[in-house]
Amino acid sequence: VPTAGRVELRDVTFGYPGAERPVLDGVSFVAEPGQTTAIIGSTGAGKTTLLSLVSRQYDPQQGSVAIDGVSVSDLGRHEMASVVGLIPQKPYLFSGTIGSNLRFGRPEATDAELWEALRVAQGADFVREKTHGLDERVSQGGTNVSGGQRQRLCIARALVARPRVYLFDDSFSALDVATDARLREGLGEATAGATVIIVAQRVSTIRSADQILVMDGGAVVGRGTHDELLESNETYREIVES
Ligand code: GTP
Ligand code: MG
Repeated sequence: VPTAGRVELRDVTFGYPGAERPVLDGVSFVAEPGQTTAIIGSTGAGKTTLLSLVSRQYDPQQGSVAIDGVSVSDLGRHEMASVVGLIPQKPYLFSGTIGSNLRFGRPEATDAELWEALRVAQGADFVREKTHGLDERVSQGGTNVSGGQRQRLCIARALVARPRVYLFDDSFSALDVATDARLREGLGEATAGATVIIVAQRVSTIRSADQILVMDGGAVVGRGTHDELLESNETYREIVES
């Protein structure tokens, strides 16, 4: 089982089953532990697909996806859950309580740990306001939790599990700017040492990333820091200025 969390994709090509054209074409990159890698690109560029290969919902047709040199296809589901924490673009809850949802990746977590994760995820206030707190029932299609609250619960769930690799798929775009800033500040501490990969739309979210990957049409068409890309990458400039 990996202990550091270095993510490496080599020349990855992937198409969805039954689809004619590949959605990812020759994608290579390394995301280092202790660093934030941001992925930006227009809708349909393949960002979510890329994360689904890292979290092994799919296997590539060509190339390799490895964490600390171990192919993710050699990791079992259980190992995978302790190594990679995905916060999906469409956040989902399991039928159960808020507490059972938060404990999904680490059943032995204490209530204090759940509250700490909620605090970081900017979700403690609304959970505290629920009649039953952590024991409040939620369901997949339930309406007692809003979309934004679902997102925060999914972030808290990932934090509770303490994975080596965090994959945030567009988790911050829907938040107001102030909440977004508070959340990411707390996350910086809570995820320190882990490998963080963030798909984002806001420039403020990605500006401070150690590395930014620009995706277009299933390929990485630029990589570098914000300043480097502003200087050198037309696609990045277009996204940033739009
Ligand atoms: P946004 O989230 O809208 O910013 O896009 P994205 O960059 O995350 O793109 P995504 O990876 O979701 O999709 C890339 C391409 O794959 C698009 O052409 C999608 O239509 C296609 N795609 C995504 N999911 C599926 C799927 O489950 N099946 C099939 N056949 N195609 C899919
Ligand atoms: Mg997406």
